[in-house]
Amino acid sequence: GRGLTHDHGPAMPTERPADAGTRPALEKFSLPLPILPDAVPVVSSRGLDVFESRIREVRAEIFPGHPTSVYGYFSSWVPPVVRARRGRRTIVRQRNETDVPVSVHLHGGVNREVFDGRMSHPVLPGGSFAYVYDNDQPASTLWLHDHTHHTDAENVYRGMSSPYLVTSDEEEALGLPSGEFEVPLVLRDADVGSDGGLVFTMDDTEHRSTILVNGTPWPRMEVRRRKYRFRVINSSAMRFFVLGLSDGTPMTQIGADASLLESPVPAPVVLLSPGERADLVVDFSQWPTGTDVDVVNYTGPGPMEDVGQVMRFSVGADASDDSVVPDRLTTLPAVPPASVERHVTMRMSEPGTTPMIATIDDRSFDMSRVDTRVDFGTTEEWTVTNESATIPHNFHCHLAHMRVLDRSTGPAAPNELGLKDTVAIFPGESVRVRMTFDRHRGLYPYHCHMLDHGAMGMMAQLRVV
Ligand code: C2O
Ligand code: CU
Repeated sequence: GRGLTHDHGPAMPTERPADAGTRPALEKFSLPLPILPDAVPVVSSRGLDVFESRIREVRAEIFPGHPTSVYGYFSSWVPPVVRARRGRRTIVRQRNETDVPVSVHLHGGVNREVFDGRMSHPVLPGGSFAYVYDNDQPASTLWLHDHTHHTDAENVYRGMSSPYLVTSDEEEALGLPSGEFEVPLVLRDADVGSDGGLVFTMDDTEHRSTILVNGTPWPRMEVRRRKYRFRVINSSAMRFFVLGLSDGTPMTQIGADASLLESPVPAPVVLLSPGERADLVVDFSQWPTGTDVDVVNYTGPGPMEDVGQVMRFSVGADASDDSVVPDRLTTLPAVPPASVERHVTMRMSEPGTTPMIATIDDRSFDMSRVDTRVDFGTTEEWTVTNESATIPHNFHCHLAHMRVLDRSTGPAAPNELGLKDTVAIFPGESVRVRMTFDRHRGLYPYHCHMLDHGAMGMMAQLRVV
C-alpha cells in the first residue's frame, strides 16, 4: 500500500534560528477580527454534503505589509468552517498540494479508523483522500488538524487546522444565538520573526508570544449590545489559555469539547489546554455602547503584556435579540460503570535534559506497536497521571469520548462534565475518566495534545477488538 512502514524516530527539540528576530511592531486591537466564512459544499444531496479542500502553501499577511508563506486548509490561512449535521454524512476531500506528507484528523470525531487521519497512511504530495465523517454524535465544536507522524506539530503550527461544527435538530431547537451572532474564535500562539513569518522551533514555548485569533494578532471585533455565542478552539500546540473578560464579568459556558453541557455554567475564567474547546455565550447588553471589553489570558509563558491579551470587543449599538440560553441544554447518558481499570503515566524529561524523552507508560511512540487492547463494547476507567515535576500535559484519546470523574486535586470542574476528548493534567496531577468503546473497532492513538510533546514521543495507540 501507500502507507509508510518505517519510523523516523521521535522529533527532538531544535534551536531557534539566531537571525529570526522579533515580530514587526503592531498596535494591539488595531486589526479587525476576520469572521470565518462557512465552507460551501460542492455537492449537497439528501443525506450527504461534500466539501473540497486543497491543502496548499499560501501567502498570508499575518502582520500587515509583511507577506509570508504558511499552510492552509481550503487554500486559506483563515479557513472556512465546515458545518455538519448529526445523522447526515460529510465528505471532505483533501488534496495535498504541498510538498510534505499530510494526514487530516477530525479532532473529537467518532469515525472509522480509515477516516481518522491515520499516521500510518499519509496523503503524499500530489495525492488526495476523501475523508468520510458520519456525524453520528452530539452537536459540538470539533476541528480538523494535521496528524502526520512526527510532523503534525509543525504542520499544525504552520496553518493546517480549521473548525468543524456539528449541529443537530435538538441543538437548533434551543434558540441559542445563531447566524452572524455565532462566531468561531480559533485561538493560538505563534513565534513571529522580524520578517513577519512564522518561526517554528520544536518544543519552544518561550518565543511563541504572539496571540492570534482567527489567524490575526490581537484583533478587535465590533459587537452589538446583545448575546453572542462564541465557539472557542485552542489550536495552539503548547499554550494553555485561562481566559476571562477584562472587567471580571463571567461568561456563560454552554458546551465542552464534544457536546453541550447539560446546563449552562457561569464561567469567570475558562481553562483551555491545547486542543480543548469551549462553547461560550456573552451578553454584551451588560455594557453601555462605547465600552471596550477585552478577552484576557491569565497564564504564561511569555511576557504578560503580550500573552495576557487576546482580543478586544468594542460594544456598539443596540440590536434586537430573540436568542435564549435555556436552563436545560441537553441530557447526557449516565456515566456507565467500568469493567476495566487502567493507569497511564505521562512523563517527560525536564527542560534542558538530553536526550529529551517524552513517554506514555515509559515508552516512546512506536507506530508498529499496539500499547493497549480494548474489548469492543466495554467501558474502561483510566487514571492518567502527569509524572512531570514542572511541565503540564493533557490527555487526548481518539474515537471514545471521556467522562471526567475527578482529579487527584479535587472534583471535576462543572464545565468538564460534558463529553470530553481532551483533558488538562497539571504536573503531579491525575485525572480519572471513563470511556466506552462501542462505536468502531480498529487502531486509534491516544496522546498528549501538546503537539510538540506528541511528536517527541508522548503518544501511544490502542486497538479495539
Ligand atoms: Cu487533535 Cu490525535 O489529535
Ligand atoms: Cu505533554
